[in-house]
Amino acid sequence: MTKSAMRGALIVLEGCDRSGKTTQCAKLVEALNNMKIPAKKISFPDRSTPIGSLINDYLSRKIELPDRSVHLLFTANRWELEPEIRKQIEAGVTLIVDRYSYSGVVFTSAKQCVDFKWCCGPENGLPKPDIVMFLKLSTGEMAKRSGFGDERYENIEFQHKVDINYDKFKNDNFIQVDAAQDVSILTNTLLEQVLKTIDTVKNQELDDLVL
Ligand code: TMP
Repeated sequence: MTKSAMRGALIVLEGCDRSGKTTQCAKLVEALNNMKIPAKKISFPDRSTPIGSLINDYLSRKIELPDRSVHLLFTANRWELEPEIRKQIEAGVTLIVDRYSYSGVVFTSAKQCVDFKWCCGPENGLPKPDIVMFLKLSTGEMAKRSGFGDERYENIEFQHKVDINYDKFKNDNFIQVDAAQDVSILTNTLLEQVLKTIDTVKNQELDDLVL
């Protein structure tokens, strides 16, 4: 791969639990691959690694961990995939990422005993997404969707705090999309943004994240 070859885009989907991110990530990868555009899905937390397994135990309430400690595990889980993310992007593969650093910050800081700015620190230097698409769902709509499971954080009151925290990230590469719309219309809306982003960034350097 030469430096002049086109790179892939780093696309992140964010949102509260039950906003449809996982479904949409899968649909986007499928749509891109059907168009012969190399694309893969990555999810955070990645529960397949040793760090991810600890996170899974924490989320399923098998273990307890101090808030800052578990925050750093979520971040470490991203850093362990960082070399692979850079490699894939450089090789021309577009990555559709289900949650990223923004989830890390908005969920931990929703606990209120941990400062928002402190949460941002360890995320800095990770690859910066070319676009973040925030799937906005009202807490009323969220409650109507198939019930929350038993995992930590899966309750409306906490998700409301998370939703408010996301507002602190609204900037030029962070776009909000109505997650309550029909699934295939939503896929088309997101796909349009993804295709535009792939074309815009193909000859640009991948930036480092600064939160
Ligand atoms: P998931 O349901 O998308 O697999 O995410 C599991 C939970 O972990 C979800 O409630 C959001 C939370 N989370 C964090 O608290 N910090 C993070 O960095 C990430 C990626 C997720």
